[in-house]
Amino acid sequence: MKKNIKDDVKKVLITEDEIKEAVRRLAREIDEDQKNSEKELLLLGILKGSVVFMGDLMKELQTPVQIDFMKVSSYGASTVSSGELKITLDLLREDLPDYDVVIVEDIIDSGNTLSKLVPYLRGRGANNVRTCALLDKPARRKVPFAPDYTGFTVPDEFVIGYGLDYNERYRELPYIGVLKEEVYG
Ligand code: PRP
Repeated sequence: MKKNIKDDVKKVLITEDEIKEAVRRLAREIDEDQKNSEKELLLLGILKGSVVFMGDLMKELQTPVQIDFMKVSSYGASTVSSGELKITLDLLREDLPDYDVVIVEDIIDSGNTLSKLVPYLRGRGANNVRTCALLDKPARRKVPFAPDYTGFTVPDEFVIGYGLDYNERYRELPYIGVLKEEVYG
């Protein structure tokens, strides 16, 4: 029988309803900022953690939107972020100057990924690059970085679900949970 992944959850940190409400609020904020722009909006999801959030966010936006994805790695199998940013799936398009880009992330931890990715995209011609993170964990910051749009500030606990994984598991949970210590300890 399939193991019930919910048995590994110590507690629910953010419920499905709370996530829905935050996604709506973030969409309204982005819509408002996009109101007077002549350019199209491009949501750039960072694989894999952002996919669930990105899917819900794009449905809530009133602004017409295009989507694209990049994959960068900063963690490996460990639970501690390293300083390196490695692009493992790059953007194939060369038309970034034509868009307002909003990078969509599930979580900001050390700040390494976004503090390197934003200048990288500007270097590729994107004039307007903003960042939207569902979760922000400022206690783990190694590089100063503040997203333009933030869903929730979370404490320094091992969060999983709604796209976030531990060793590639738990992404399908519909809420943000805290993983039991015995699972990763
Ligand atoms: C996570 C998360 C961010 C990054 C944040 O991705 O989705 O991309 O780490 O950490 P940082 O602020 O310390 O750079 P991860 O490398 O775990 O890959 P995943 O999205 O495929 O799970």
